Amino acid sequence: MNEILKIIKSRRSIRSFTEQQIKEEDLQAILEAGQYAPNGIGNQPWHFIVVQNKELLEALSSASKQVAKNHELGFFRNLANTKEFNAFYGAPTVVIVAGDEQTQCSLADCAAATQNMLLAAEALGLGACWINFGLFIFDGEESAHYKQLLKVPEGFRPFYSVALGYRKGEVPKAAQRKEQVVIFI
Ligand SMILES: Cc1cc2nc3c(=O)[nH]c(=O)nc-3n(C[C@H](O)[C@H](O)[C@H](O)COP(=O)(O)O)c2cc1C
Repeated sequence: MNEILKIIKSRRSIRSFTEQQIKEEDLQAILEAGQYAPNGIGNQPWHFIVVQNKELLEALSSASKQVAKNHELGFFRNLANTKEFNAFYGAPTVVIVAGDEQTQCSLADCAAATQNMLLAAEALGLGACWINFGLFIFDGEESAHYKQLLKVPEGFRPFYSVALGYRKGEVPKAAQRKEQVVIFI
């Protein structure tokens, strides 16, 4: 099978990491892959914030859990109330993708960049997971404080994040794919 198609199929969300930090060259390659994503009208309305500070990641996770305690979905409220739950699963590196709030396709562009980074991580033999939970803080009252800590540019908002590290344990199996989701006209 074609290498890229293999990577797309073998990528899984990894939620358990060793403490070992990823290599700088791998991080740079992943960030570059993010920046080569397709983007509406060529706007590239993104900003990538690399966080490798354990305390800051813990703080973001705890603060997001606090916000998620009032989430309308019970799934998120349950996670928020689980003491040992860490939104970033202890990953040594997290890349936050912030998008320009005024740009038309910002969400889609940042999502494309996020997926590119996940695939790049898989290609480099790293574990990765797309994380939105850890950014719930930006729906809460402390949003401005954390935006300042993370040096989020004016007019941008953190939309998505990617946890990165070396996998610990087994790679989970892919869920069964839904059937009859394709129509040929
Ligand atoms: C928009 C989006 C947000 C996600 N947020 C989280 C998250 O906060 N925490 C988490 O563990 N996984 C998160 N995921 C990963 C999904 O749970 C995962 O992709 C899905 O269960 C399918 O599994 P797979 O990635 O192994 O194929 C997110 C995925 C997407 C696309």
